[in-house]
Amino acid sequence: MVKNYPTVSEEYLKAIEKCKRKLRGFIAEKNCAPLMLRLAWHSAGTFDKGSKTGGPFGTMRFKVEQGHAANNGIDIAVTLLEPIKEQFPIISYADFYQLAGVVAVEITGGPDVPFHPGRPDKEESPHEGRLPDATKGCDHLRDIFVKQMGLSEEDIVPLSGGHTLGRCHKERSGFEGPWTSNPLIFDNSYFKELLSGEKEGLLQLQSDKALLSDPVFRPLVEKYAADEDAFFADYAVAHMKLSELGFADA
Ligand code: HEM
Repeated sequence: MVKNYPTVSEEYLKAIEKCKRKLRGFIAEKNCAPLMLRLAWHSAGTFDKGSKTGGPFGTMRFKVEQGHAANNGIDIAVTLLEPIKEQFPIISYADFYQLAGVVAVEITGGPDVPFHPGRPDKEESPHEGRLPDATKGCDHLRDIFVKQMGLSEEDIVPLSGGHTLGRCHKERSGFEGPWTSNPLIFDNSYFKELLSGEKEGLLQLQSDKALLSDPVFRPLVEKYAADEDAFFADYAVAHMKLSELGFADA
């Protein structure tokens, strides 16, 4: 879709640049890049193209949305970030959470995801139940990513590669363990692990494994496992699209 990005003030652009620097230092110091990426994704992934509700518009700042079952643990990210947000009152929460996601990918060695500022904050959280269920397969992934969010089915595989960072926590999702042996490095090891099968100490969710048995998804898993540059290029575009769902639509 053609985007019509809003013009923001010089002061706003300067604040974004400064905030980006602060976030780089802070996220590196706290080793919290995975949780920041999950925050950005769970903020954006609620977008519903039919009703044009949900999406990356800062509503994760509200306790009600942090309380959604899929968001267990996200309150930790929101609380961690608050002292930085307070330094930049001019920046919307909407931009701020998405900027944190972009920085998380960058400082762990991932691609530079293009960032366009100007998302407004909305006042109402989306209904619960829009984020994907880890126990389901490809039909469900298509329902959420394509039918609900309005992304393309080819975006699903690079975005799933976000699981190159971080881990599951028993007390948050009920699952336990990382997808890769280097969960603080953004690389293509998620796809390599997926192809090499289950391994002691690592985890694959049903929604990860499902990618292997789908005629559209599997070739992309194989491509990204063999070619990290191809993964990074497709990931950067898909992440940008995710971070701009419902924003600046012409
Ligand atoms: C495809 C559907 C997806 C499902 C079903 C899913 C499910 C999950 C689950 C169950 C967790 C564990 C949460 C916890 O226990 O802490 C998790 C963590 C995570 N997810 Fe996803 N996810 C999906 C897509 C994505 C996408 C698109 C991204 C980003 C591009 C992403 C990034 C992450 C990250 C970085 C973590 C680790 C968080 C941490 O270490 O604290 N996920 N995901």
